[in-house]
Amino acid sequence: MKEKLEQIKEEALSQVQDCAEVDRLTQIRVNFLGKKGKLTDILKGMKDVAPEDRPRVGQLVNETRAEIEKVFDEAQKKLEKVLREAQLKSEVIDVTLPAKKNSVGHKHPNTIARQEVENIFIGMGYEVVEGPEIETDYYNFEALNIPADHPAKDEQDTFYINDKFLLRTQTSGTQVHVMEKGKLPIRMIAPGRVFRSDEVDATHSPSFHQIEGLVIDKHITFADLKGTLAEFAKELFGQDTKVRFRPHHFNFTEPSAEMDVSCFKCGGSGCRFCKGTGWIEILGCGMVHPNVLKMSKIDPDEYSGFAFGIGLERIALLKYEIDDMRLLYENDVRFLKQF
Ligand code: DAH
Repeated sequence: MKEKLEQIKEEALSQVQDCAEVDRLTQIRVNFLGKKGKLTDILKGMKDVAPEDRPRVGQLVNETRAEIEKVFDEAQKKLEKVLREAQLKSEVIDVTLPAKKNSVGHKHPNTIARQEVENIFIGMGYEVVEGPEIETDYYNFEALNIPADHPAKDEQDTFYINDKFLLRTQTSGTQVHVMEKGKLPIRMIAPGRVFRSDEVDATHSPSFHQIEGLVIDKHITFADLKGTLAEFAKELFGQDTKVRFRPHHFNFTEPSAEMDVSCFKCGGSGCRFCKGTGWIEILGCGMVHPNVLKMSKIDPDEYSGFAFGIGLERIALLKYEIDDMRLLYENDVRFLKQF
């Protein structure tokens, strides 16, 4: 009996030693210690052992069983450790490797210019609002004091959708939307896309962008307009920038003006960039016409204001010295990459 037990133990040990898989180890354990295992078989032979020898033999069987179990447990722990280490090794991350670069693309020059203008006015306490691209005749023309027979309303200049709707030709209609809400005072800019029935060339496009500005409060004067826009020009083109205002006509402002900035290329002495004049035109502006205030239910005896309209493409072309507007719309990555 004793030899038999020794033999089983040896056999178990040698099988465990050769085993390199957890599943296989479990199988071997069952073969030796399971219900139908070799050691259990031995116990079945106990009935043939003389009664006086039984306690000693029983103890021997139990000791053998404990030894074999111990060997199995140790082997299993060892195997699991090896597996864990292999897994950790396969999952190792080298945190010192340089990070992968994400290609995030470039901002369009229009976007850069728009954000620059927005930031300047946000810094002055203005709100940025958005108006609809599809407008009615009322918002695009009538409420802006533009009479029914005005040439801008001609189909040659305006894209009409039907009798009622059109693609806005200017962002000025957004002034009306904001004034109608009745919340005063107003300090807002409204960037957006506008549409005109123009042929494409180096300086024209049927769709371009404007940034509208509107300020309404008590006691607003032309001096406020000049001071604000002069400061804006300095922020955008540099602190040495000078401005000048030339009388102009817009139906929705009175008086109206166009504002020029001193040429930031030559400083005003005259160059190819400013066509020798030393000045570059950048926006239209004026004091909001009393009729426009009245139509939007604002009392012109109590409130006054100024408005301005900036051509966004013009700013982008000037700032980045681009000489053909078409480049802004072609989306050629070789061009866009430069910004
Ligand atoms: N809406 C005008 C245009 O498209 C630009 C403009 C001029 C806007 C004067 C204004 C303004 O708000 O006061 O030519």
